[in-house]
Amino acid sequence: MANKVLIIGAGGVGQVVTHKCSTVPEVFSEIMLASRTVSKCEKIASKLARPIKTARVDADNVPELVALIHSFKPDCIINTALPYQDLHIMDACLETGTDYIDTANYEPVDEAKFCYKWQWEYHERFREKGIMALLGSGFDPGVTNVFTAYARKHHFDEIHELDIIDCNAGDHGQPFATNFNPEINIREVSAKGRFYENGTWKETGPLSVSRVYDFPDGIGNKKIYLMYHEELESLIKHFPEIKRARFWMTFSDNYLKHLEVLQNVGMTSIEPVEYKGQRIVPLQFLKALLPDPGSLGPLTKGKTCIGCHVKGIKDGREREYYIFNICSHEAAYKEVGSQAISYTTGVPAMIGAMMLLTGTWRGAGVFNMEEFDPDPFMDKLNKHGLPWKEIFLKE
Ligand SMILES: NC(=O)c1ccc[n+]([C@@H]2O[C@H](COP(=O)([O-])OP(=O)(O)OC[C@H]3O[C@@H](n4cnc5c(N)ncnc54)[C@H](OP(=O)(O)O)[C@@H]3O)[C@@H](O)[C@H]2O)c1
Repeated sequence: MANKVLIIGAGGVGQVVTHKCSTVPEVFSEIMLASRTVSKCEKIASKLARPIKTARVDADNVPELVALIHSFKPDCIINTALPYQDLHIMDACLETGTDYIDTANYEPVDEAKFCYKWQWEYHERFREKGIMALLGSGFDPGVTNVFTAYARKHHFDEIHELDIIDCNAGDHGQPFATNFNPEINIREVSAKGRFYENGTWKETGPLSVSRVYDFPDGIGNKKIYLMYHEELESLIKHFPEIKRARFWMTFSDNYLKHLEVLQNVGMTSIEPVEYKGQRIVPLQFLKALLPDPGSLGPLTKGKTCIGCHVKGIKDGREREYYIFNICSHEAAYKEVGSQAISYTTGVPAMIGAMMLLTGTWRGAGVFNMEEFDPDPFMDKLNKHGLPWKEIFLKE
């Protein structure tokens, strides 16, 4: 099978996706990596064992994207640029009849708000064109959606409570840094918390709800904070029996201390300010000062643990279950030159593309991960570097 893949965005995640696709030539026979800064693509390409093509593209410019797609003729595009580019790349896919995959849902640049509405609105047009979009094929969203679908398929008749818990127990030794794109990361963590309960969404102050969770594999007790995350929106749509769905993330006291000060002085704002005759966005300026997440790879030690804690009913009895992956920052760096945050996002993006290109997951329209059979994806996770474990806490 000859398949061409175009990866857009040569950042932390793009590097892992490109690396992983290059190790599966039987699925990804030709690879092109394109980004705004072509030298970043060339740097990544120079580290691979097989040749790939590189190109410069501004993914906010639809005609430029369309021209690139016409010249390379990819079978699918993996979008690892920023959420701001999602709709532009989807427009170019529609115009050229190309399948689409991403890892984060669309966010407007001038409003820190993310939801699936904008991308779901493309469903009819993708369906009519006979092409497929697979949304959120990272870890969370992505694997967490597949974990939920797997739990529902094999272990539950009904899921009643879903807690998605993202723990980064790693340490990069820097005073303050984010482990993926700082602008997107800070917009996400400084937003209000939101969870779903008994048919309605409930809001909480930013990082105002916390508790301690005991993580497996020697990680132990860590404080987790309630946040809003996009997969909650699609999971309650596709598993309407869910009564409560929440998302939690760990943060170190040091990270929170820095974030609080930066917020208090206005450095995390996305409202432009006038400075010496120029309009600057404080958060974008802050991004320029912070360490590039890509530079954290060799510095980060420890591991991540991301999983789903599920309660519900099986055969009329209450069941409680936890499914998770442990990923070592050092092992990820040794394999692909990136820390575990980029690794845990890039591997599922590659597997999502594999599902689509091999016809294992197929459909015309716009889809979330949990709409497909989880089993083949779960099998590939074990084979491509993200093995998972499950624990029955009550059955
Ligand atoms: N689902 C998950 O689990 C998960 C987890 C982490 C991250 N993510 C998502 O993954 C994506 C990538 O994150 P990252 O940490 O890799 O970010 P990153 O390191 O900042 O990389 C983003 C890349 O996108 C490129 N880019 C930005 N605007 C562009 C444009 N207009 N045209 C072409 N290229 C453009 C940038 O290219 P240049 O440098 O060439 O300008 C940059 O290299 C984000 O959407 C993030 O939200 C998902």
